[in-house]
Amino acid sequence: MSSQIQIYEYINKCIYDIGNSINEDTNIYFSSCKAPVNIALIKYWGKIDENLNFPINDSLSITLDLNDLYTQTSIAMSKMFIEDRLWINDNEIDLKNCKDGKVYRVNRILYIFRSSIDWEKLCIIKKDWKIRICSKNNFPTSAGLASSASGFSAMVTCLARLFFESDKYSDNDSNVDSKYSNGLDNFFTQHKIKEFSAISRLGSGSSCRSLFGGFVKWVNYNYNNNFVSQAEPVDTTKENFLIHNMKVLILVTNASQKHIDSTKGMKLSVKTSQLLNYRSQYIVPDRMKDVEKLVLAHDEYKNCEHSFSKLCEVIMKESNQLQAVCRDTYPPIIYSNEVSDLIINFVIAYNKAFTNFFQEENAGHNKIKVAYSFDAGSNAFIFIDESHLQTFCILLEKHFMLSQSASETLTYLSRSFDLMGYNNLSKKEWNNYLEVNFSFLFNHEKLAIPIQSIILTKPGSGPIYINDPEECLLDSQGFPK
Ligand code: DP6
Repeated sequence: MSSQIQIYEYINKCIYDIGNSINEDTNIYFSSCKAPVNIALIKYWGKIDENLNFPINDSLSITLDLNDLYTQTSIAMSKMFIEDRLWINDNEIDLKNCKDGKVYRVNRILYIFRSSIDWEKLCIIKKDWKIRICSKNNFPTSAGLASSASGFSAMVTCLARLFFESDKYSDNDSNVDSKYSNGLDNFFTQHKIKEFSAISRLGSGSSCRSLFGGFVKWVNYNYNNNFVSQAEPVDTTKENFLIHNMKVLILVTNASQKHIDSTKGMKLSVKTSQLLNYRSQYIVPDRMKDVEKLVLAHDEYKNCEHSFSKLCEVIMKESNQLQAVCRDTYPPIIYSNEVSDLIINFVIAYNKAFTNFFQEENAGHNKIKVAYSFDAGSNAFIFIDESHLQTFCILLEKHFMLSQSASETLTYLSRSFDLMGYNNLSKKEWNNYLEVNFSFLFNHEKLAIPIQSIILTKPGSGPIYINDPEECLLDSQGFPK
């Protein structure tokens, strides 16, 4: 008994000491990171609980390379700050504007971190400390390029380190060894990162998948009568074989703001689309299983082009179904435009050409080498086997109207990526074949609307911390530089 009292006394003293030291603290603490965009292969569309962002179905994504697309965020935290402040892409956002849904979500995440107990120090620490957040994207905001996913995951990544960084882990991100591992891995356990993903989910559903690299699933399950909804990596090995030769081309067909954002669109679909219900119950569960199986295929199936073809097929069907659900919504939501429709036909024609080219040797074999995917916007995400990038770009240049920047990017790509040896495929024969046959398969006039810009990227890692103060977006007083 007496020893228990001693323990309580000891704990009380610790809390008192920590409280005192915190009260005296006049420092400003900083945390900066870059977080990636992810693109869903199995789409999240619809919520069973709007407030908590519980999705109607599981989803699965690929994280894109941070070196090409990212949100960079710096957060400063101090007991001396009077109020919370937020700057996004050089504009200050009023965090007191309760009517703005995104602002509400930012405040909610801050509240969650502030209310968390630091189990190491046994107290609710930094509860009253105010925060300044500065965030920038290197790509057009709200253009269907998932800026809220990278934005919220960046915010949570920075807050995680400010509130929970543990002395146990080294303050050094150079030991991020695996290509698709995570900057957070150096500071937190996988279990903790999954918990952070659930917090990020409250900001924007799809953002929970951006806390991890490579293939990531966002799953919902019941654990001890609690509904759990969080992201986790599908494959934790160094580099998944399906990703190895994969490139992702983003064709920006409209860089302006979308006319109806995903949150509103989903709400309307849940209310009015019968197809959405059917899809979440009968289609997505099987597709999740199929894709996971492909990603985790055993050695004997690895490098098999069949897996890539299968994956491409699911990617395109999922994209089609999301657009179908949107059209099934009443009033209908239409995210595509003429250019995006043409891109779909173009990809189908390309795969058909390749299948036909091989038909005699490999009758019945599917040769899907390219897939398209669209989210809540008209920009296309093209998943392509690297060995096809050159021919695909040359044909794109020939058949689409392009802005000057898009044209320059394609010219560069056509020169940089040579068609690699593929099943003894002769580059000359394949190009000759396309020369003669492709316009029969893709028999369309060039549209007057150009593809505005093109970004080449590939799968990549989860968020990374930035330790160099020079790269911090806030100055030493916590104001945007
Ligand atoms: C079409 O995550 O932007 O990109 O949870 O309401 O913030 P909220 O929606 P958001 O939805 C994105 C949906 C999607 C498909 C996907 O990423 O799975």
